[in-house]
Amino acid sequence: KLIPVIMAGGSGSRLWPMSRSQYPKQLLKLTSDKSMLQETAQRIVPLTKQAPLVICNEDHRFIVAEQLKEQDQLGKIILEPVGRNTAPAIALAALQIAKEDPEALMLVLAADHVIKNQQAFILSVNKAVAQAQNNTLVTFGIVPDQAETGYGYIKRGEQQGDCFTVDKFVEKPDKETAQAYLDSGDYYWNSGMFVFKASTYLSELEKYQPEILSACQQAMQHTTPDCDFIRVDKTAFEACPDDSIDYAVMEKTSLALVVPMDAEWSDVGSWSALWDISEKDSNNNATRGDVLIHNSSNNYINAEQRLVAVVGVSNLVIVETKDAILVADKSQVQHVKKIVEQLKAAN
Ligand code: GDD
Ligand code: MG
Repeated sequence: KLIPVIMAGGSGSRLWPMSRSQYPKQLLKLTSDKSMLQETAQRIVPLTKQAPLVICNEDHRFIVAEQLKEQDQLGKIILEPVGRNTAPAIALAALQIAKEDPEALMLVLAADHVIKNQQAFILSVNKAVAQAQNNTLVTFGIVPDQAETGYGYIKRGEQQGDCFTVDKFVEKPDKETAQAYLDSGDYYWNSGMFVFKASTYLSELEKYQPEILSACQQAMQHTTPDCDFIRVDKTAFEACPDDSIDYAVMEKTSLALVVPMDAEWSDVGSWSALWDISEKDSNNNATRGDVLIHNSSNNYINAEQRLVAVVGVSNLVIVETKDAILVADKSQVQHVKKIVEQLKAAN
């Protein structure tokens, strides 16, 4: 049994000012006429008819439910009163699934990926599903093409049929390390999607981050299982340590396997990533909305409300919205979240 699980509680702060806390990037129609959450849910239809189990912030419950309902995929939604990152989010899902069947396989997906080759995605997931039956934690490896510091890196070990053992898992290395990994040719990017049994994840979490597991168990204790919105206990969940599955479990476990995935995958984590996958003009400018360009190249320009005109500039990101304008050097867009931090501190 394969249960699709979609993590949709991120803040997408590197895509400010389009992505806002009330309307984060996974709920935006950034790349097509569907939101990234909707695209993610559609992607799994060939694998299972079961509606996905979604985990998101309480504040977004109506938008999330609405978007899934639009495409007949409304299932249970676990609501977090606060974000505690992906290790707890996945733990809540695993605990919910384990109530019925601890041996059930979870296909854990991020709600913020673009995958252009659906068939290759399905192929890799099927391979991972076969491997995860043996109580392993299966990740998907993407062949890297740049020294991106926003991703996890997986050092390939021995080949075992369709997959490889994991020699090393390093979450978000610094630039130098990422470059060395890229040059070595021995590393994959971690795609941020996983397949494992609920029981395997929970026992590895217990081993490496028992505090997260116990906080999540407490938070799930009094939930009403037959309601579509599953509300976890606020006090218990607030006390949960904040950590991602990558740091909490994947860097430490010895049960990890990696299945290569060649599906034209992209994490639209930043404005430069969005530029990468966008259609461009002959000077490599990607634009959306009302934009005029002269003598300019390699820019990403998104005009939501007003006309934006540029002359003689290159490698910029310009995003115009109703109440904020971002102008950034395209090589520094990872730092956009620093602006969001400044905004939060000021409020
Ligand atoms: N429910 C819930 N609660 N979901 C969350 C939370 C949370 O507190 N935090 C993040 N998410 C969701 C996001 O919406 C996204 O869909 C997914 O979990 C991954 O979170 P990100 O914050 O986007 O992670 P990342 O991109 O920095 O890093 C992860 O993905 C990379 C590839 O995209 C890691 O797994 C990296 O190793 C990986 O390379
Ligand atoms: Mg991401």
